[in-house]
Amino acid sequence: MTDVTDSAWLVEETGFGPEGFDRARANYHETIFTVGNGRLGTRGSLEEGHLGQLSGTFLGGVYDGHEVPVIDLVNVPDWLDTAVYVDGVRLDVDTCTVVEHRRVLDLRDGVLTRSTLFEDADGRRTRLETERCASMADRRICALRLTVTPENHDGQIVVETGIDGDRRNLEALPVYPAGTVFDVRTRWEKWALAKHMEQTARSAADTLYLQMRTLDTGVELGFLASTTFATPPVHRAAQQRSERVTERTVHGGAPVRMEKLVAICTSRDPDASGPLPDRCRSALAEQEGFGSAGFDGAGFGSAGFDGAGFDGAGFDGVVAASRAVWEQLWDACACEVVGDERFTRALRFGLYHLLITANPDDPTVNIGAKSLSGEGYRGHVFWDTEIFMLPFFILTQPDTARALLRYRHHTLDGARANSREYGTGGARYAWESADTGREECPQFTPDGANRFWTREEEVHVSADVAYGIFRYVEATGDTAFLHDYGAEVLFETSRFWVDRVAASPAGGYELRQVMGPDEFHSHIDNNAFTNRLAQWHLTRTVALYDELRDRHPDVLAAVATTIGLKPDERDRWQAVAEGIVGPRTVAGVIEQFTGYFDRDDIPITEWDDNDMPRYPKGYHHFNCETTKLLKQPDVVMLNYLLPDEFSAEVKKANFEYYEKRTLHKSSLSPSIHAIIGMEVGDTTRAVQYFERSVLVDLADNQGNTAEGMHIASAGGTWQILVNGFGGLRVLGGRLSFTPWLPGDWQGIRFRLRWRGRPVHVSVDHGHVELLLGGDAGGTEGVLVGGREVTLTAGEPVRVAR
Ligand code: BGC
Repeated sequence: MTDVTDSAWLVEETGFGPEGFDRARANYHETIFTVGNGRLGTRGSLEEGHLGQLSGTFLGGVYDGHEVPVIDLVNVPDWLDTAVYVDGVRLDVDTCTVVEHRRVLDLRDGVLTRSTLFEDADGRRTRLETERCASMADRRICALRLTVTPENHDGQIVVETGIDGDRRNLEALPVYPAGTVFDVRTRWEKWALAKHMEQTARSAADTLYLQMRTLDTGVELGFLASTTFATPPVHRAAQQRSERVTERTVHGGAPVRMEKLVAICTSRDPDASGPLPDRCRSALAEQEGFGSAGFDGAGFGSAGFDGAGFDGAGFDGVVAASRAVWEQLWDACACEVVGDERFTRALRFGLYHLLITANPDDPTVNIGAKSLSGEGYRGHVFWDTEIFMLPFFILTQPDTARALLRYRHHTLDGARANSREYGTGGARYAWESADTGREECPQFTPDGANRFWTREEEVHVSADVAYGIFRYVEATGDTAFLHDYGAEVLFETSRFWVDRVAASPAGGYELRQVMGPDEFHSHIDNNAFTNRLAQWHLTRTVALYDELRDRHPDVLAAVATTIGLKPDERDRWQAVAEGIVGPRTVAGVIEQFTGYFDRDDIPITEWDDNDMPRYPKGYHHFNCETTKLLKQPDVVMLNYLLPDEFSAEVKKANFEYYEKRTLHKSSLSPSIHAIIGMEVGDTTRAVQYFERSVLVDLADNQGNTAEGMHIASAGGTWQILVNGFGGLRVLGGRLSFTPWLPGDWQGIRFRLRWRGRPVHVSVDHGHVELLLGGDAGGTEGVLVGGREVTLTAGEPVRVAR
């Protein structure tokens, strides 16, 4: 059971009495209590389900588009699938009264613990306790432990547990009058549902095996479950029906204690070889002999394995191995607002969700906009990865950052095909990417009423990918990545830009018909963000080309052969980089796009309970085109991404101008305003934006956490800690810290990894303390408040602020 002594690591749900289970917030809890391991995520639904549940397990990279207009991240078989009966009465929140209900997610090891006391109509009280986790040590393994304890009766206990493959994805909500409110018990039933899997194999003997195949993409998914009981059941029957396998055990005494271990293997796993059932079996067998410790071999699990003696550590063993990996993960990214438990927990909560959604071992997957915690955005990958989440991984978990960037290389063919479709060459990354890299962005809102232009016009994503690659290499020194994968991506995407630009009548090049990060304005020309990032991308790529030509001609030759690069292409990249038109600037304010300054200035006059702007009366997402209102930062974002290219005065002028006009209708938005707000001295607003960002999911302040985590916001929040309060910028290739702390904070602490060495940072009101780790003798020159400081490995340095 979870050690509850350090509540800054614990996220809790507690309820007593008739409302012990808060049904209205159940879907929210399902999201925040997602357990996962980077390869898969399982929402925090009750094991036995409830009316109105939105349950799901999602495996990175498993998509399917069968008979749906937009490809989905598949809601794969449910490995929890467990129900308990007491004298024939099902223990669930729909049948029984909930006397007490408590769940705790321990962020340290990703174990979700539950204790629910049910009372049935005859007054029988039974406590149901569970613990579950997805192993970080072996990403194929999930584990559940269940204990059933009668409190005032000796009724007969029956447990049913199995694998349920009869799953659907939400497809579309039919059009109902605006403002229609659905009962929480039935709200998801109104949706059209999409079926993405069919059963290909099933067996229910001593172990339970279910194999499903995705209908269009043909991915085989194998789920093998093995259970053990502390005391042997008096009766056991395996049950099979279409797309579901279960076992039913009848118990002669109480308490009943079950451990269930599930191995999940798929035909798309990077190292896949051999029949899936065999792979699942060996995955279970590798769990140090699951099946019995303390259980006296009472389980059924081992029989299917020819009595091979799975007498190992069971559930506790899985958790112990997983915890050891978690310890390493946390060691690399430990962070804290000293003395403030609420913010510390919220920061760690965001990092927990980042850690359970990124897989360093699979370079063919990436992170969807709602992570693996829900179906929102159908699991599609956006610029959110490179701009919002990647900085966290680059600076704390560089192997994961590398894998995330390798996904862009893996999907390069898809990006090439996207570019061809739009009449350009090279590679153009999809605004919404899934398994192949082809563009998956829908053109209309689900009700068909409004057209989105992001698919066609939000082309900045290709420059964002380039940005991520260069930042990764700068922080890690991983030139091998650049040579093996990065250069090809950068050259191909540079080819896209030179075809995408148009000659300007005034000379130079323009980028017309685009949309910047601010999605209120479509069909615009010369978006300051897009033009500048495309230019930066081309300039850096030319420099890379020259470096390879001069120092690694063999690497250049290999890439050139692969992509048929011609000698004059480099000069064309340079010509376009030098010729891209710059934005109009008035009194330091950079015009967001050509003609922006002429649009209607509609004041923002109302703020919501979170102190965030409301749409001015009469305005909504689809009619802000003619105004200066912004959905999210665009120029301010640019100021942040290229810190050494804009003066302090320019940053201040742009923040002051655009902040008044930004509605923050994306959860990505507040983090950027928090960071730049601190830099330019608007610390009051900055702290408000921090609170909005750090609590976005825990406080559900967007109102839609039920559909999945705002995972980019978690990455943005980490950047507020490190780049905002910590004041970190990389200037001229060096770490530079100019911290700022709110008066009522004692301090902050965080850890980074820079060029292979850990850097521990601690800030209070008087000092910055830095400790460089790694091999003795290593040094690193950094800036603190603009002053040069040399760090030597193992020697803490304390600098007055
Ligand atoms: C934002 C985009 C973001 C997407 C997915 C949209 O609302 O405007 O910037 O990429 O959500 O998170």
